[in-house]
Amino acid sequence: MTQSITIRKPNDLHVHFRDGDMLKTVVPYTARQMGRAIVMPNLVPPVTTSKMANSYRTRIMDAVPDAYDFTPMMTCYLTDKTDPDDLASGFAQGIFASAKLYPAGATTNSEFGVTDVKNIYPVLQIMADIGMPLNVHGEVTHDHIDFFDREATFVNTVLSTIRETFPTLKIIMEHITTRDAGEFLKQAGDNTGATITPQHLLYNRNALFTGGLRPHMFCLPILKKEPHREYLLDLVTSGFDRIFLGTDTAPHTISNKECDCGCAGIFSAVSAIELYTHIFDMVGKLENLEKFASINGANFYGFAISEETITLVKKTLAIPQAIDLANGEQVHPLLGGQSLPWSMHYE
Ligand code: NCD
Ligand code: ZN
Repeated sequence: MTQSITIRKPNDLHVHFRDGDMLKTVVPYTARQMGRAIVMPNLVPPVTTSKMANSYRTRIMDAVPDAYDFTPMMTCYLTDKTDPDDLASGFAQGIFASAKLYPAGATTNSEFGVTDVKNIYPVLQIMADIGMPLNVHGEVTHDHIDFFDREATFVNTVLSTIRETFPTLKIIMEHITTRDAGEFLKQAGDNTGATITPQHLLYNRNALFTGGLRPHMFCLPILKKEPHREYLLDLVTSGFDRIFLGTDTAPHTISNKECDCGCAGIFSAVSAIELYTHIFDMVGKLENLEKFASINGANFYGFAISEETITLVKKTLAIPQAIDLANGEQVHPLLGGQSLPWSMHYE
């Protein structure tokens, strides 16, 4: 039985760092494991300009402990009114790594998002021309579409149209959760990649209701039925090279999760790489972990693959029940109060 594994330093290609006290608490967890992270722009107000991204980047860097060599990669929140010149110059200057499409109303702080993708077609054409990747939250938002069908509907309507209209645009299907998304990804060609979270590889939708309502298992896209999980687990661990690590770590305070209208989002940064290591180990595919965690995503975005390595050892990791913020609030991490069989070995 494998007792340890050393891999190139991974990248987390989908994180939410928030701002203020939350940012100061959560950034070090990602920075100690990851070489880079793609930082989502859904603050209030959202990060819509290169100036905002620059100052957000500084606030993140200020929260990175000196010992960690970590680079946040910033994203632009697309709206109906995105300024294409600022977007393109932000990309040229290395301020923006990519831009994020949130269909308006799809998830946390997406009310400023795009109301009709056609509104941003000129922006998407420019992005395709300059090689700027597009991160897509792939869910439709219509009331008449069942919550559990929103990703599949998006993939088969909006996404397939964008894919056909802009064949050279690099598209990342964020946090995919369905077989439909996986099948689309496989046939969509080299310019289409995807991220996947640990929770969608570990759990099906029963986890939302086991023993009672479980607000800390609620995220968007919502957990799906078991056959979707099985399909994606197989795709991810098989070594397919256009799917990569993106935790979608999305911290909310416990008071904002355990209430009448709880926020969507699961905070997984505390044990991100240990979670994925456990997942690959569960199916006997540890040999494919490094590709998924450290290579596929870097290749897709055009980032250098890290020269540094990290080592995971088969040693129990106890995950704290809750983590304190400076303002007296707390956050509950994924698997808080439980443990994982793998730990990252810190020098
Ligand atoms: C994310 C958040 O809280 O910002 N929530 C989530 O459930 N994943 C937003 C998102 O990525 O959809
Ligand atoms: Zn997210």
